[in-house]
Amino acid sequence: MEKKGGLMKWLDERLALTTLWKVMMSEYYLPKNINFLWSFGVLTILVFVILVISGIILLMYYKPDANMAFDSVNKTIMMDVAFGWVFRHTHAVAASIMFLVLYIHMARGIYYGSFKPPREVVWITGYILFVLMSATAFTGYLLPWGQMSYWAAQTITTLFEKIPYIGPDLVIWIRGNYIVADATLTRFFALHVTLLPALILIFTAVHMYAVRIVGSNNEDGIPMSKEEKKKNGIPFWPVFMSKEFFVMSVFLLFFFYLVFFNYDFAMDPINFQPANYLQTPPHIYPEWYFLAYYEVLRGFFFSETLGLIAFVASMFIALFLPWLDFSPIVSGKHRPLFKIMWWIFVADFVFLTILGKLPPTGFYAWLGFFGAIVFFVFFFSLPIISIIEKRKVASGGEQ
Ligand code: HEM
Repeated sequence: MEKKGGLMKWLDERLALTTLWKVMMSEYYLPKNINFLWSFGVLTILVFVILVISGIILLMYYKPDANMAFDSVNKTIMMDVAFGWVFRHTHAVAASIMFLVLYIHMARGIYYGSFKPPREVVWITGYILFVLMSATAFTGYLLPWGQMSYWAAQTITTLFEKIPYIGPDLVIWIRGNYIVADATLTRFFALHVTLLPALILIFTAVHMYAVRIVGSNNEDGIPMSKEEKKKNGIPFWPVFMSKEFFVMSVFLLFFFYLVFFNYDFAMDPINFQPANYLQTPPHIYPEWYFLAYYEVLRGFFFSETLGLIAFVASMFIALFLPWLDFSPIVSGKHRPLFKIMWWIFVADFVFLTILGKLPPTGFYAWLGFFGAIVFFVFFFSLPIISIIEKRKVASGGEQ
């Protein structure tokens, strides 16, 4: 018989679990001057866990076949399987809320300058997670094989056609057919349930490890020394996590309120009609979390090529924030000009999201163009603001 703690000791000697626990949890110190927005990193993990659990249950009944997919979701899961509807709504609401949580997590990072040195790797791995999450949502949206699933996939894959030389062949390669068809469904399914979640897990681990190495930022953007951290910091476990459990509980109340009473916000009514490749819906639009980028694409209504370039740029420009913004002042709290631009950017993102669902004609088309330009103004203003602030700091101004 092993004595108490024997197994743990045995494992510890082989895997250094105690050291790992100390580095990741009990001896990782956070500054005191952080607010509840610092909880959103752990909230993304919570939502991801909900997605995986509800997804595994859906997977037991879902059929990745163009002839059966729609019924397996809308009849088998929604009507025949006991509580199947709860798991479907949980999965759909979690997918939608994941983006809300992610956008808040990213906006917090931008406002407080958490992308700046030495946190570039934290930012880049985070951005890769955002791209992976977007790909997961996009591939998952095709699976119910409804009208909007089908036409959203058809529209977005058609965009690749515009890539010079390889475009037309690439689209066929992605779809596995000349149009979105059964081959597209099965490959999207494979990516959605295996490769993409596995990559998300790996990058989440790297992302969290990178945060541990450089330490968390704070509201003032002023780094803490190792001694200060031990003396004045709060340990991640159990102090920060005890607050985190409170935030998670409040979040779960809101989340399950949506699942049980307002689930349809995450589902397009048109998607309750089976996919019909002969009939296009009157308006094709993505889910709310992609509407802003979609509106940037449509904003350049007078040139398809410009629209496509702007669309790709809008999805990836934030990746380059650590180099676009080189001001020595880290936190937006101490940067009046940056603060104004950040608020304009956030308002513009909401504006583009609203506009993305309206028809892109007449006055709306011009509003879309205006919104798309403002989107980029934020990023191009950063080097200018950085130069102004650099001069100010050099001349002994505010730090
Ligand atoms: C599945 C997606 C993600 C997960 C699970 C995740 C998880 C986390 C966790 C647990 C933390 C530490 C706690 C906190 O500071 O909130 C964190 C910090 C951070 N994350 Fe993420 N994150 C994700 C996506 C992203 C994205 C998309 C970005 C930005 C592009 C990002 C940027 C950051 C930054 C800059 C920090 C450091 C914050 C600071 O120290 O002020 N993360 N993340």
